[in-house]
Parts: sequence; structure tokens; C-alpha cells
Amino acid sequence: MELITKAPRGTKDILPEEIARWQHVEKMILRVCDLFGFTEIRVPTFEHTELFERGVGETTDVVNKEMYTFLDKGGRSITLRPEGTASVTRAVLESGLYGGALPVKLCYLLPCFRYEKPQAGRLREFHQFGVELFGASEPAADAEVILLASRIFDAFGLSNVKLKLNSIGCPECRKAYKAALTEYFAGRAEELCDSCGERLSKNPMRILDCKSPVCAEIAKGAPSILDYLCEDCAAHFTKVKELLTAAGAAFEVDDRIVRGLDYYSRTVFEFVVDGIGAQSTVCGGGRYDGLAGQLSDRELPGLGFAMGLERLLLTLEAAGYQFPAPAVCDLYLASAPGAENAVVALAEKLRGAGLSVQTDLCGRSIKAQMKYAGKIGARFSAVLGGDELESGKAELKRMEDGEKFTVTLAEESQFVTVIKENCNG
Ligand code: HAM
Repeated sequence: MELITKAPRGTKDILPEEIARWQHVEKMILRVCDLFGFTEIRVPTFEHTELFERGVGETTDVVNKEMYTFLDKGGRSITLRPEGTASVTRAVLESGLYGGALPVKLCYLLPCFRYEKPQAGRLREFHQFGVELFGASEPAADAEVILLASRIFDAFGLSNVKLKLNSIGCPECRKAYKAALTEYFAGRAEELCDSCGERLSKNPMRILDCKSPVCAEIAKGAPSILDYLCEDCAAHFTKVKELLTAAGAAFEVDDRIVRGLDYYSRTVFEFVVDGIGAQSTVCGGGRYDGLAGQLSDRELPGLGFAMGLERLLLTLEAAGYQFPAPAVCDLYLASAPGAENAVVALAEKLRGAGLSVQTDLCGRSIKAQMKYAGKIGARFSAVLGGDELESGKAELKRMEDGEKFTVTLAEESQFVTVIKENCNG
């Protein structure tokens, strides 16, 4: 029989030894969301395929090459979400959240799925933290979303993350820009890769995103979108930069940032980091004022970003970030033969008093139980047997140095006090 013990390529278990890091990161992130008034939303893992085709765009790599799409048993085309924005926008439109207080400020922590070539920082199932803000067209909203992302990096003390900012204008500005790009790239069409050959007629802006070194080199000389912004888009971009500067956020304008998804308009940005390999974009986002209108009959300005949690963790690890120590067991309660009932009863009382308590579940000898207590790093241990039950007293042994503290079995508060006052760290 062939063994089935290997996860599919590009997926990763998050093992118990790693979970404290994930929980810490998620907690810190949600705390920053609270500071800005963003509330969590949870959306389904799969959606109608058309949502992403229409929302993310049919000329994008995400939709063209990377989606996990299948027919369900009812014959409907379903896709595992490759990103959160389209789903969250759909949820806002469906629920009518836009009819309440505007702007609507939402955040999410979601697994996403893309059929990409796995490498460090690039998985087929990965996790995004993101925010989406709906109902605000003002540059102040762009600045706020960017400042939220910056504050997350600040909260972790990360100083090697750089903000790159650009504006890709509105569909009007892009008409002239795309014409200029087409003219430029058409002159070098023979040198472009096959995919870019196709992009040239469908969406020449995607060529600016191509990873092939030859296309990237050619793209360097391409016209800049910033020279094609209409008056309104230029004024919007100027104000975003002004607000970020006023808030003390450092940024670099990079007119090559176009983002790989079709829904963007005006502000786009990325946070990039050195030292985590080729996949250096930790966070990307921008404005998508046309997306709601593409999915429904309602116009609703929107903007946001998403951060790859795997990449954020890699960044933190590379920076030597000190994660808090994982939670450990306060007390291991060993049972001598015959004391099992008393042990389960006492453990339950102590948990009720707020201590984390573990007991034997494998029928081990006392010696083997104590070895296990050492392995799991229990702070204290105690043995319950005939003597203890008779005297109504037990000895709590501090595992790190063997010091003993006597407690009365009937007084849970004594356990709590001894453990809290005498554990180091
Ligand atoms: P995105 O740039 O496609 O944007 O992805 C956002 C982030 O997700 C990336 O910067 C990266 O950190 C992470 N990421 C993407 N693909 C992978 C992968 N295969 N493995 C690991 N991490 C990955 C979006 O998804 C937009 N929805 C962002 C947004 C929200 N724009 C407006 N609102």
C-alpha cells in the first residue's frame, strides 16, 4: 500500500511548535486594526469562478494560470479564492453593508490558493492578512490604509521594509498610457516572451509585471504612467503623498509598480523587504474604485491591501524578532495507581481556577509521568497517591530546581498562589 503522509506540493502544515508565532502575529495585527477601527470579516473559502474572472481580471496570471477551479457536483464552476478583495467586495454588496455608516472598514485573515511554482515565500496555499475600506474616495482613505500597514511593520520593530508608491490613474488616463505602451513594446515585440506577446494586444500594462529578465529589461525604458495622469488623478496622488509625508511615513515613488490584478485604479503600493529571497513583496494593495461596479449595478469606491503572513513571518525571523515564549503547562499532576479519580477531579478544579494542568492519559508509571512532565516543560509537578489523599496535602515541585512547596488539596487558591508567585518567567 502506498503511504499517504505527504501534504500536496506548495502546502504546509503549521505545526504546534510554530503556532505560537502565528497566533502572536495575528494578535498584534488585529490589535493594530482595532486602533484604526477595522473589524474582522470572514468569507467563504470558495466562490463562483466568475467572481474572480470579472473582479481580478481575465488577463491576469492569477485568473489565467493560477486558480484552483473545479465543477462541483451540481455542475457549477467553483474556485478556491486566490485573494480576498473580490470576496470581501462581493460580501459587502450582498449584505448591503454599504447602506450603513460609511466608510465600511474591514479586515481579514484568510488562506488563499494559487497554483504557482512553490519556492521560499511562495506557496500554493498561503495566508493573507488584508484590509478593505469601502465608501471613501478621498486621498485621506488611501493614506489611512497605507499608514495601517506601516504601523503593523512598526509594531514589530521592522525597519527594513520599504514602501513603494505609485498611481496608475483612472481608466481615462490609462487609455492614452496603454496606447503609448503598446507603441513602445510593439517596437520590441520580437524580443518579448510568448506571454508578453499576448499581453501586448490584451493588456500591455501586464508586461511591466513580467518576471522574465528580457521583458523586465525592455520594460525599464517604457513610458511612465505618471506622465499620463489626468488632472484629478494627479491631484489625488499629490494629496496622498502630502498626507503620508505629514504623518511621517517614508516612501519612494516607483512608477513600475502596476500590481498584478486588474481592478486597481489610482493609488497602488507595495511594501518590500530585503533578505527573504526573491519573494520580497510582503504587502501589496491599492485603490479599486471600479470593482463594485464590475460585479454589480452599484458604484462603491474601495481600497485596501493584503500581506502574506508566511512572508511576514520570514521577515520577522530574518530580522531576529523575539517572539514571546509559547505557553507552557503550569502543573503536571501525576497519579499513583488508584489515585486517578482524585487526579481528574483536582485537575478540573485547578483548571477552573485558571491553571493549565495536564495529567497522565497513557497509564504510565510515576517515573515515566515525571519524564513526560519534563519533556513538555511543565513549570511544576505534583504526585497524588494514597499519602497525599490521606493527609489532604501535596508537594508542588518546581521543575527547574526541584524546590518544593506544600499545598492543601482542598484549597485551589493555594496552588494558584504558589505557582504564580514562584515561577520564573
Ligand atoms: P497580491 O499582491 O496578489 O494582492 O497578494 C498580496 C500579498 O500576498 C503579496 O504581497 C504576498 O505577500 C502574498 N502572496 C501572494 N501570493 C503568494 C503566494 N503564492 N505565496 C505566499 N504569499 C503570497 C492581493 O491579493 C490583493 N487582493 C491585495 C489587495 C487587497 N488589494 C486591495 N486590497
